[in-house]
Amino acid sequence: MAIKPARRTPKEYAARRAQLMKRIGADGVAIVPSAREVIRSRDTHYKFRQDSDFSYLTGFPEPDALAVLAPGRKVKGRKAEYVLFVRERNPEREIWDGRRAGPAGAMRDYGADQAFTIDAFEHELKGLLAGRQHLHYTLGEHPHWDARITACVREIREVSRRGAAAPVDFVALEATLHEMRLRKSAAELSLMRTACEITAQAHCIAMRTARPGLYEWQLGAEIHHHFARHDMEPGYGTIIGGGANACILHYVENSAELRDGDLVLIDAGGELQGYTADITRTFPVNGRFSAAQQAVYEVVLEANKQAIEELRPGNSSARPHDVATRVLTEGLVDLGLLKGKPAELIKAGRQRQFFMHGTGHWLGMDVHDVGRYKLDNKPRPFESGMVMTVEPGLYIAPGTQGVPEKYWGIGVRIEDDVAITAKGPEVLTGGVPKEVREIERLMSGA
Ligand code: GLY
Ligand code: MN
Ligand code: MN
Repeated sequence: MAIKPARRTPKEYAARRAQLMKRIGADGVAIVPSAREVIRSRDTHYKFRQDSDFSYLTGFPEPDALAVLAPGRKVKGRKAEYVLFVRERNPEREIWDGRRAGPAGAMRDYGADQAFTIDAFEHELKGLLAGRQHLHYTLGEHPHWDARITACVREIREVSRRGAAAPVDFVALEATLHEMRLRKSAAELSLMRTACEITAQAHCIAMRTARPGLYEWQLGAEIHHHFARHDMEPGYGTIIGGGANACILHYVENSAELRDGDLVLIDAGGELQGYTADITRTFPVNGRFSAAQQAVYEVVLEANKQAIEELRPGNSSARPHDVATRVLTEGLVDLGLLKGKPAELIKAGRQRQFFMHGTGHWLGMDVHDVGRYKLDNKPRPFESGMVMTVEPGLYIAPGTQGVPEKYWGIGVRIEDDVAITAKGPEVLTGGVPKEVREIERLMSGA
């Protein structure tokens, strides 16, 4: 079944650029570079992925490009606010490496008011920066461009001593752009719903496929095949951890055999048109939870559910973690893994032996998406349009002293993606079960 997500329109990109330009004001200018190709092996590259900031503002899919936004700029009376620098057309290279838009295509198909080849960058940039006070640019992310841009600014400063004005300060672009990306538009939410729906289907396929004797990577193959069928690819390194491998948080070898009686933890998310899902499910390789596995699992599930309820506009964004930490710590005491009063254990950080990561992160174009977590040094309140993961877990390393052996090597994480809405938390990842009975039913083939 093909699921057709909403396509983002040129109008949406134009609206984003207009919003950014309004924020940076008439005396500002923003520079946003594309990603570059990265060598994988000698003369072959990793599959190109566009820089998320650049993609968000331009939709332009090629490497070696750069966008300049100069609010209010005009050339010969015509609007020239949005300038793209792109690779030159080159019929011979295009036979080998694929089509290029070139400057004409950048204007015709991507809405640039003006476009130049990337080699003209230094020459044109001086004019684009002249008279602007604030240069909004994220230093440190694109070393190649840092050098070229700072060299340009230095030259302008030299000229400015003779009368022309120079940009006086560098302003971190993320202060404006990343706040925009944090609040998702209707079109972005629609894409994320679809990414989550297809990713949930992929997790269901993995549950139905799992059995003792398969290798972790074979479950990965099922998941990635489903992504590929929907023109998606993994938004981050897929984690498939059977047994105690689930206790290694960033386990990506995915090389072990799945054993009868073990759980398997799968953390996989498909990226659709630049937006990724991020789902974790943990389930028994043989389709039936043991009593000890179920006991740990139910604690994590309760933490997941209670934390999700906190994702409401106006709530502090620290609430989900506080709630998850409380539920998990109470559960650890009930299971006999910790001794003492939960509040005191939390004060002493004792739960961190079993729950050593945060409960969630912003989600969007990047799996660990942009946007500040604190404002004025306090956890910021949630707002409608933000999307966050909720991913409590418990990880009991093999051989943990003071812990009954039946719990050794059990690692459980349950991760959902949730949109914050005026009507309450919208769980985007409900298409894959997380209740014990529902998982067992799905795995039994019913
Ligand atoms: N898959 C990365 C994470 O859950 O944060
Ligand atoms: Mn996550
Ligand atoms: Mn994850």
